[in-house]
Amino acid sequence: MTTSIPLKAYLKACQDRVEGALAHWLPAAAIAPQRLHQAMRYAVLGGGKRVRPVLVYAAGRALGVAPERLDAAAAAVEMIHAYSLIHDDLPAMDDDDLRRGRPSCHKAFDEATAILAGDALQTLAFQALCRDPALAVDAETRLAMVDSLALASGSRGMAGGQALDLAATGQAIDLPQLENMHIHKTGALIRASVRLGVLAAEPPGAQAQRLDHYAKCIGLAFQVKDDILDVESDTQTLGKTGGKDQAQDKPTYPALLGLEASREMAARLRDDALQSLKGLDERADPLRELAAYIVSRPH
Ligand code: IPE
Ligand code: IPE
Ligand code: MG
Ligand code: MG
Ligand code: MG
Repeated sequence: MTTSIPLKAYLKACQDRVEGALAHWLPAAAIAPQRLHQAMRYAVLGGGKRVRPVLVYAAGRALGVAPERLDAAAAAVEMIHAYSLIHDDLPAMDDDDLRRGRPSCHKAFDEATAILAGDALQTLAFQALCRDPALAVDAETRLAMVDSLALASGSRGMAGGQALDLAATGQAIDLPQLENMHIHKTGALIRASVRLGVLAAEPPGAQAQRLDHYAKCIGLAFQVKDDILDVESDTQTLGKTGGKDQAQDKPTYPALLGLEASREMAARLRDDALQSLKGLDERADPLRELAAYIVSRPH
């Protein structure tokens, strides 16, 4: 993973790494309770862009942390993310039948199994962070990592943002409320991904604040782009049902600002993110390219 390799190769290398780590931490499908373990593996393995794990590796790389040390952290954020998607797709939430180009977990299995798969993935994420010897940090730092991921996942992070999303569905909310919802439901876990990579650097040093600002910007930009893609892309490309937000009367950036202003906002957030990396050397190049990728990605 040298600086000269293009983002595509870097993404592939990180995706392969985290795939291996996820396969390692997830219980084998043959272990009882088999149906639950099958559902967990179904929802996590072999799909998704793996943006959050890549951010863990790329943030660590910017500060000289070897990827081997970050496998468990990368797997942990992806497990939380996969759990959030399983629950997001349930009939009680967005009621989506398609995810990552396949039937959603509750469609491939059943609702009760999907709920449990989400529950179990959430706790497995913290177990991986607690136990992985390769992480090689002191106990205090490991605790700070667990704390960061917990904060980002819970009622003051992703789960809280999802609650705001459900409460706002069919309602008129203003721009500050929409931003607050997006920062929580999606931004928090992206911010935690960068933070985990930074914490592993021990001490994280003077760049930690800059990296946190970068993460806040791309975290919001990621959901703005997700809203845009829901309007302008199609189900085949997305691997999830297009046009769902309007059909369900979800408050989104395109609904509130229009497509053009939403694109401009995503571009501004990208530029702000890039600006905050100014003091970092070329080891932060993957982070720079990721900021651009997040607002230009096709799905
Ligand atoms: C989708 O996330 C849900 C959001 C938080 C916007 P991703 O776009 O990262 O989905 P995958 O992991 O690639 O499937
Ligand atoms: C989901 O937002 C955010 C999560 C925390 C899962 P969306 O509901 O817009 O995500 P998609 O479009 O279904 O992937
Ligand atoms: Mg949703
Ligand atoms: Mg959804
Ligand atoms: Mg969406």
